[in-house]
Amino acid sequence: MLFKSLAFLVLAVGAAAVPSISKRGTMTDMKIYAYGVGINGLPILADSTGNAYVSTADVQPANLSSLVWTISTDGATEWTVAYNSTNSTTTSNGTLYIIPTTDTYGAVGFGTAPSGAVTTPFYVYGEQVQYLTDSLLEAQFWAKTINGTTESQIMWNSDGSSQTDSTPVVLKTTGPVTA
Ligand SMILES: *[C@@H]1O[C@H](CO)[C@@H](O)[C@H](O)[C@H]1NC(C)=O
Ligand SMILES: *[C@@H]1O[C@H](CO)[C@@H](O)[C@H](O)[C@H]1NC(C)=O
Ligand SMILES: *[C@@H]1O[C@H](CO)[C@@H](O)[C@H](O)[C@H]1NC(C)=O
Ligand SMILES: *[C@@H]1O[C@H](CO)[C@@H](O)[C@H](O)[C@H]1NC(C)=O
Ligand SMILES: *[C@@H]1O[C@H](CO)[C@@H](O)[C@H](O)[C@H]1NC(C)=O
Repeated sequence: MLFKSLAFLVLAVGAAAVPSISKRGTMTDMKIYAYGVGINGLPILADSTGNAYVSTADVQPANLSSLVWTISTDGATEWTVAYNSTNSTTTSNGTLYIIPTTDTYGAVGFGTAPSGAVTTPFYVYGEQVQYLTDSLLEAQFWAKTINGTTESQIMWNSDGSSQTDSTPVVLKTTGPVTA
């Protein structure tokens, strides 16, 4: 309930603000973090096929790679990630995609884009990663717990409906404040 109203607020603010988004160019060496219930600013990681995850473990799981992002604020340019070669078998860089298809709960990733996936237009608004559709900024990222692990997979929940083992998250360009 709380999230629904927050989500609405984000949409409303985003809708009003779209025309004023400025072209600030490209931001390199970025990190992106997820925030939600039990997810207190965890960096987005990727598995070997380029699906997005977070982990609550103190030590990053060996089968997930950290990422360095190059993001654009013009909405037209794709967002790319460089996999941390220390922990990845993937040498090429990836491109962020979501699947915004109606009623779809689809994996967010950086690898080969599946059917229905889009790679633009993404914006950072109020430090939050947002997707622009029909002149509305949307943020429908969710985290789906992988039972028996410290890992949650990052998903795009097109219609925002309740999903098994899942909780909404926001993706931000700022890390958690460390005490
Ligand atoms: C990573 O390895 C752990 C432990 O083997 C496993 O439970 C988990 O599903 C793996 N995660 C991915 C994304 O492959
Ligand atoms: C990176 O991968 C290596 C080999 O799999 C592993 O030993 C190491 O712990 C991983 N690093 C992190 C930060 O998880
Ligand atoms: C890459 O991974 C290594 C080992 O896990 C870690 O020490 C280093 O900080 C990572 N680099 C970036 C840019 O995340
Ligand atoms: C991947 O991205 C990094 C950082 O932006 C860049 O230095 C590197 O050249 C890219 N590699 C490929 C294969 O495009
Ligand atoms: C995962 O764990 C939760 C909580 O224990 C449980 O409700 C759910 O059914 C489990 N999901 C799967 C796919 O096993």
